[in-house]
Amino acid sequence: MDYRRIVILTGAGVSAESGVDTFRDKNGLWSKIDYRDVATPEGFAANPALVHDFYNMRRRRIAELEPNDAHRALARLEREFSGEVLLVTQNIDDLHERAGSKNLIHMHGEHRSALCTHCGDRSPWEGDMSLETPCPACATVGHLRPDVVWFGEMPYQMERIYDALRAAGLFISIGTSGNVYPAAQFVQEAGRAGAHTIELNLEPSDTFDDFDEAVHGPASRVVPSYVDMLLKS
Ligand code: APR
Repeated sequence: MDYRRIVILTGAGVSAESGVDTFRDKNGLWSKIDYRDVATPEGFAANPALVHDFYNMRRRRIAELEPNDAHRALARLEREFSGEVLLVTQNIDDLHERAGSKNLIHMHGEHRSALCTHCGDRSPWEGDMSLETPCPACATVGHLRPDVVWFGEMPYQMERIYDALRAAGLFISIGTSGNVYPAAQFVQEAGRAGAHTIELNLEPSDTFDDFDEAVHGPASRVVPSYVDMLLKS
């Protein structure tokens, strides 16, 4: 197993054991609130206060939580692996960074970032945000929104991600249900380019059949042991 380049995709499941809600599991976020109200541009236009409350609540909640052994194992892989490791996360939380990951793409944005729809500025953000909050760059009011990629919007850094998938020797998918595109299609992209593909998930995902291999169980257990194996090989 001589993988020069590894691309890792993570989803909400990698942060579940840290206390971050997943979306589609039993009691997941989308079973409690309609995603159309809080995760679409239309929902934001219809009720920006509701959307700001939702992400303010998430921002406060995530600030109280800590990375788990899965996050730490991935940071260790990046540090100790002799080849290249790129971590692409669908998560908006900062637990990968707090665990030490550096070569990281937040394809769906970040909860600790603000986006101004007037000047396009994206600024690091702490605390609550509202319609009254002025943009840190252009100072206009009423245009600030959470810097999160909503349904129907284009994820970030897609060209860089596809270039990495096409050059990968190993593609690892962790804690994602394979419901949301384009992320759910990454396994095919990497597989077509010759990468070995593996799913590490609590249960088989919707794209389970597209993988060469799978290990099912909680991320905090299966990710550290898989990383151990990679670093020993
Ligand atoms: N360890 C490993 N996997 C887990 C764990 C765990 N402890 N707990 C849950 N999972 C798995 C579930 O089995 C499920 O397959 O994580 C997956 C979570 O799936 P979703 O809730 O659909 O989350 P995700 O795939 O990240 O959603 C993708 O959808 O709502 C949008 O933008 C949002 O980025 C998100 C995207």
